[in-house]
Amino acid sequence: MVYNQIKQVLPHFRFEGYYVSAEELHSGNINNTYHLQYRKNGVPMHYLLQNVNTYVFHDPYAVMENIEKITDHLRRKYLAGGVDPTRRVLEIIPTIDGRTMHKNGGYWRAYRYIENATAYDRVMRPKQFEEAGRAFGEFQRMLCDFPAGELHTTIPDFHNTTKRFYAFVRAVSEDKAGRVRALEPEIEFMFEHRRAMGTIVRELERGVLPLRVTHNDTKINNVMIDNDTDKAVCVIDLDTVMPGSALYDYGDAIRFGASTAAEDEEDTSKIALDMEKFKLFTRGFLSQVDGFLTPHEIELLPLGMRVITCELAMRFLTDYIEGDLYFKVKSPTHNLIRARAQMALLEDMERKADEVQAFIDGRNK
Ligand SMILES: Nc1ncnc2c1ncn2[C@@H]1O[C@H](COP(=O)(O)OP(=O)(O)O)[C@@H](O)[C@H]1O
Ligand SMILES: [Mg+2]
Repeated sequence: MVYNQIKQVLPHFRFEGYYVSAEELHSGNINNTYHLQYRKNGVPMHYLLQNVNTYVFHDPYAVMENIEKITDHLRRKYLAGGVDPTRRVLEIIPTIDGRTMHKNGGYWRAYRYIENATAYDRVMRPKQFEEAGRAFGEFQRMLCDFPAGELHTTIPDFHNTTKRFYAFVRAVSEDKAGRVRALEPEIEFMFEHRRAMGTIVRELERGVLPLRVTHNDTKINNVMIDNDTDKAVCVIDLDTVMPGSALYDYGDAIRFGASTAAEDEEDTSKIALDMEKFKLFTRGFLSQVDGFLTPHEIELLPLGMRVITCELAMRFLTDYIEGDLYFKVKSPTHNLIRARAQMALLEDMERKADEVQAFIDGRNK
């Protein structure tokens, strides 16, 4: 029974009205998410209850502090611009004692439920991908005056590609699972890409690239899309918000959303950068960030998607070499297949580099 899983938690939140029903969303994930219905004076009230994933986030208080700061900032800016923030920004429902979380076994938090909108796992209509680009671009734009350095780094070195490269080299030299011998082409690939991969980290350190608020999980299913208009309403899933580079958010969205195949496609001939999807997302994103992203950031967007793709290829390969310690695998070669899939995607991005650049420069709309 869903109710039994949450009944001890419910009275600790400032939900209005009386409890009517609860339904579990996303069942089976580490993150449990529940849609709650209450009723106040005959009016249905909808809430979302979640527990924070302490396996990934060791400091849930830091996660919630980040979310509180970001959502406060967004709400103030929407209000100042005359826009009703109700459906546009996640709204934390506080606990009875005025906190953002309730500790009971795990850590629980609640948001106002965004009604009449859907977080799609897969794009149903191409326009939705453009809307996702617009939403993540708008997220960047609304937060461009937020002091990113004030946010907690809740997952240290998440995109520190240079450190990840050293971890990869260490894994190769230790060869704990005895898998290195057969991996010469893959290892060589990583060494060939080493310099390019370190670019964003280096430029952030030198201040050439500005430190910005990054979402760090820019998948389409983290954008709520209005059921009637198909327009993006709100960016959700703010757990991974951290200081970083705008290039990460853009790059990861393209890497994940604009590939022609799944992340673990075995037949690499099926893997390519889908130029239509790339253009849709990029058009939406650029419509929002033109004017405040620096010309240098815009120029580096194509590099952003390549760095992120290579970084992930290297993480899969590292995990394969270490004997599958981090990512869940369905077979002994799953991580290797994933690494090769990302490498194939990167190679196609490299082949299409001119076309990609031309589109971003506005030479090929
Ligand atoms: N405020 C909200 N209103 C309505 N639905 C939401 C809200 N927040 C999350 N959801 C739904 O719950 C799902 C899981 O939430 P999310 O925060 O993205 O967690 P996860 O880490 O599991 O992806 C989303 O894909 C979306 O369908
Ligand atoms: Mg999500």
